[in-house]
Amino acid sequence: MLNWIESRTGFISMTKDFLTEDIPGGASYWYVFGSATMFAMILQITTGIFLTFFYAPSAATAWESTRAIYLNPYTHFLLSMHYWGASAMIALVFLHLLQVLIWGAYKSPRELQWIVGVLLLLVTLVLGLSGYLLPWDMDAYFASQVSLNIAGLPPGGALLQGIAQGGGTMGTDTINRFFGIHVWLMPAALVALVGAHLAIFRHNGPAGPVVDDPRKMRPGRFWPDQMFMDGIASLVVFFIIIFLAFVAPPFLDAKADPTNAAFVPYPAWYFLFLFGLLNFVPVLMQGSHIPFLVSQANAPWVELFAAIVIPTIGGIIVLVLPWLDRSTTRSFASRAGILWTTFFVIVAIVALSFYAQSTIQAHIAASGVTPQTEDQILAAPPPNAGGTSNGTGETVGAPGGGAGAASAQVTAGQSVFSQNCSSCHGANGQGQPGVAPPLAKNPFVTGDPKAVINVVENGLHGQAVMGQTFSAPMPAWKSTLSKKDIADVITFIRGGLPGNSASAVKVSAVK
Ligand code: HEC
Repeated sequence: MLNWIESRTGFISMTKDFLTEDIPGGASYWYVFGSATMFAMILQITTGIFLTFFYAPSAATAWESTRAIYLNPYTHFLLSMHYWGASAMIALVFLHLLQVLIWGAYKSPRELQWIVGVLLLLVTLVLGLSGYLLPWDMDAYFASQVSLNIAGLPPGGALLQGIAQGGGTMGTDTINRFFGIHVWLMPAALVALVGAHLAIFRHNGPAGPVVDDPRKMRPGRFWPDQMFMDGIASLVVFFIIIFLAFVAPPFLDAKADPTNAAFVPYPAWYFLFLFGLLNFVPVLMQGSHIPFLVSQANAPWVELFAAIVIPTIGGIIVLVLPWLDRSTTRSFASRAGILWTTFFVIVAIVALSFYAQSTIQAHIAASGVTPQTEDQILAAPPPNAGGTSNGTGETVGAPGGGAGAASAQVTAGQSVFSQNCSSCHGANGQGQPGVAPPLAKNPFVTGDPKAVINVVENGLHGQAVMGQTFSAPMPAWKSTLSKKDIADVITFIRGGLPGNSASAVKVSAVK
C-alpha cells in the first residue's frame, strides 16, 4: 500500500526527507516558537472559517450576528478561541522574531528569511486590526475610526482612507472591505509568506545555537526529538488558549452608534504602544494631549510624526537589520550594541503600553459613562430594531418599535418553544392528556415569573398540574438552553400563547 502510494506520488520519501532534517547542536525547546506560531495560525484559520458560518458582514447585521454568536454557548466558545488565538499568534510571532534577533539568526545567508518573517508580523497585525472592526460594536467602530483617520493623515492619505472605508463615512462598505481583508487577502498573504518562509528555512537549514565554531556541534535530527518538543509546545499553546477562552471570553459592547462621540475607544493590547505614542508625542511637542485623534485640528504634522513617521522608520530599521548589524560573528559580546538597543526598545514599548492603558482608563473615568454589563447589552434589542433580519434567519425587533423589546422576545421565544416544548405541551400550549399539562390559560404560567423561571430551569416531577398528574417529568432546561432562550420562551408562554397576556421576562431575571 505505502509502496503503491510512494511509486505514484513520492509522498513517502518526501515525508522522510522532511523529517530527517539535521539540527545543529540537537533538538531544543528554544526552537519551538516558529512551529507554535504556525500551530496558532492553523487554529485561527480553522476557527475563523467556522465563524464565517455565523457572521453576516453589513452594518445592519454585523453586530446582530455577533450577538447571536455570543448567545449560543458553542459559537461563543468558538469566537472566544478565535479571540485568544489571535493574541497567542501575535505574541508568538513576536517572541519568534525576538529570539531570532537576540541570537543573530538573521545574518547571512538568512536575510530574506528575516524579511519574510517581519512581513509575517505585519500581516498578523493587519489581521488583528481588520478583525477588530468586525463585531461592529462601539469599540470596534471608534477604535477603527482612529486607524482609518491615521491612514488619512499622510499626503494622499485621504484617498487611501476612502478606499479602506469605502466612502466618506464608515458603514457597510467599511465592514465589507475589512471582512475581505480579514478573511481573504491577509490569510492568502499569510499562507504564501509562510510557504516562502519555510522553503527558505529548508534551503539554509536551522541556524543553531550561538557558538564560535559550528564544527564542534553534534548534529541532531528533526524526527523524533524536535518534532516531539514542537508538539508539546503546540499542545501547551492550545491548552492556554482553551483555558483563556473559558475563563475570559471577549466582551461585546453595545452596537456601534456613530453619534455617541463621548465614547472612549481602547485598542487591542498589541496596539496599545502605538496609541501611547500618539498620545505621548503631543505632550512633548506642545504640552497638550490629543485624545486619540478625536481632535485633529491641533497640529496635524505632530500626529503624522507619531502615527506614521516613527512607526514607519522603526519598521524599516527592523526590516534592514541584517545589513545594519554587520558583525560577522553571532556572539553576544560582539553584538552588545544591538542587544542593548533591543532591550531599550522593548522597555519603551512596554512603558508606552502601560501609559496608554492608564490614559485610556482616565479618559473613560472622565467621560462619566457607566459601562453596561454584557447581560444588559445582549438583552437589549439592537438600536435599529424594526424587523431587520439579524443574519441568522431570526427576525429582530418588531415593526413600529414601541413594545419592540417584548415582541422581539415573543418572536424569538416562539421558535424556542416550537423546537423544545411543543412536542409535549402542544403547538399552541394546549397540553396533551397524560403527557404534559396545558400552558395556555394556565394561571401558574401567567403568575409569579420567578416560579415559572424556576420550573423551566430545574424541571418538575410528580406535581398535580391543572387537575392532572404525569408519569414523565418536565425536563430541566438550564443546561440545554441559554439564559436568553429561557427568558424568550417564558416571555412567549406568558404573553404569546392563546389567552395568556402576562409580562415579559428579562434575561437578567434568569439565574
Ligand atoms: C418531555 C415532555 C416535556 C417537554 C419537552 C417540556 N415539558 Fe414542560 N412539563 C412537562 C410535564 C410532564 C410537566 C408537568 C410536570 C409535573 O407535573 O411534575 C410540565 C410542566 C411545565 C410547566 C409548569 C406548569 C404548571 O402549571 O405547573 C411549565 C411552565 C413548563 N412545563 C414549561 C415548559 C417549557 C417552556 C418547555 C420548553 C422549553 C417545556 N415545558 C418542555 C413535560 C414537558
